[in-house]
Amino acid sequence: MSDLHVYLIAPNSLKFKQPLGLFIDNEWRPSSKGAGILTINPANEEEICTVHAADTKDVDMAVEAARRAFNGKWRALDTSVRGELLYKLASLVEQHADVLATIDAWDNGTRLFHSARFLSPSNLHSDYSFVTGKTFHAARDEVLGAITLLRYYAGWSDKIHGKVIDPNPDKLAYVMREPIGVCGAIIPWNFPLVNMVIKVAPALAAGNTLVVKVAEQTPLSALYFANLVKEAGIPAGVVNVLNGTGREVGSAIAAHADIDMITFTGSTPTGKQIMKSAASTLKRVTLETGGKSPMMVFPDADIEQAVRWGHRGIMSNQGQVCSATSRIFVHADIYETFVNQFKTEVEKISKVGDPFHSDTFQGPQVTRDQFDRVLSYMETGKREGARLVCGGKAYKNVGGKGFYVAPTVFADVTDSMTIVQDEVFGPFVVIAPFRDEAEAIERANSTVFGLGASIFTKDISRALKVSKRIQSGTIWINSSNDDDVRVPFGGYKQSGFGREMGEEGIEAFTITKSIHVNLNARL
Ligand code: NAI
Ligand code: MG
Repeated sequence: MSDLHVYLIAPNSLKFKQPLGLFIDNEWRPSSKGAGILTINPANEEEICTVHAADTKDVDMAVEAARRAFNGKWRALDTSVRGELLYKLASLVEQHADVLATIDAWDNGTRLFHSARFLSPSNLHSDYSFVTGKTFHAARDEVLGAITLLRYYAGWSDKIHGKVIDPNPDKLAYVMREPIGVCGAIIPWNFPLVNMVIKVAPALAAGNTLVVKVAEQTPLSALYFANLVKEAGIPAGVVNVLNGTGREVGSAIAAHADIDMITFTGSTPTGKQIMKSAASTLKRVTLETGGKSPMMVFPDADIEQAVRWGHRGIMSNQGQVCSATSRIFVHADIYETFVNQFKTEVEKISKVGDPFHSDTFQGPQVTRDQFDRVLSYMETGKREGARLVCGGKAYKNVGGKGFYVAPTVFADVTDSMTIVQDEVFGPFVVIAPFRDEAEAIERANSTVFGLGASIFTKDISRALKVSKRIQSGTIWINSSNDDDVRVPFGGYKQSGFGREMGEEGIEAFTITKSIHVNLNARL
């Protein structure tokens, strides 16, 4: 490993300069042990490039830079200026949107068709073009999401206040809301850009500095973003970006004595591991982990809409979405109709193919590991005796290469089946009938997870009543994965704790300090 940059030409002919190094103190540095991580295109299994891999020495260097920045320039900045820097960064991401979208379509196989979750009001619900499909521009939805997050939290920078408490004439107290310090952000591969920005934007708005560890499967867009951080004028050391494995770099960050907080998105088992490592120094931890989010379709629902939202809710982004509605419960009276219409929807919409092709809905799974994992759950489903409605196998494209799976629907499942309890993280959904509201609620709640839940009914009091009884951080009534940057998002149960987006997203990166002023009382 020697080069710190390389010129790449993407499958859509876009040429750009890709950073390969470790981004520490606003400089590109080589890996101190000279190691590299190969990143490949999941659509054809070909190598894209090799990035430098950090080790614990590089982690120490990044943490020192982040600590210096926290105690120095970043702390000293006027909060409005902090906001202006984030606005500037948002504009740079906007200017480079084509490159960023190209990188993730290439490195990750992203095909995003409906990510209202992150979009601004002007974009919200405006894009139903997933029905006909469009070019890789659909993958730009994620870049739009990153821009929305940066602008939303830029606006928060100078609006973070404490409070005054006035208990009696002898005493005044006030509470300050301060940044936590140096934050370690550990990022997964399913939304390489947005899952990083959803942490970086509020952390910076609140005055923290960061050491970011990107997912080893998808390092490229975060490195490109790091250049924009520097170009925006954000001081050295405020954002540091490291490539590396979870085992080596992720765990070193989680255990590091000079990191004050860990913000993590990824699997539930890794979340548990991180909590253990963070316990050694009692770091603050927020975890956004796995899910097996239910969708309940009551007999009075608009079935066509339930099918459409249900399909997008599980099949978008190749099913690699933490809050994907991966379990669908349908009232027995409309069950067979729903299953048939869902199958038709999959056949009509879920076109599998190259992420850069204009009629593609579903690209490849991100890695061979994930491809194997999804295939193994297909076999488990068959063995467990669920009814295979469609899919259930790898998808063979023309060249025979790439991590493609057929979109898969299993019906008539029971709650004890593995495929009903485990997060599969693929275009893989299970459907079961229910008889009454109580049964729907009980079954919706019967996993270890609690991230999202969708309720389809025209009866608003039923929808609200059921919402109260579902153990989940988010409920969507008559939609699925319809999230919004202004509304907090996060888990119940083993889906994690802490909230991202909205005002709660800022609170997560602040700590209160209480100051007591004695006005009169004498001892
Ligand atoms: P993972 O949770 O192991 O990886 C996520 C991040 O954590 C990566 O940056 C990884 O390098 C890091 N990491 C791994 N082990 C670590 C450790 N001991 N200490 C600190 N950091 C560590 O997820 P993985 O293995 O890539 O995917 C496995 C499954 O996890 C998926 O099939 C899916 O079910 C789930 N997952 C859920 C996500 C979500 O959005 N909630 C995102 C990615 C995966
Ligand atoms: Mg792992």
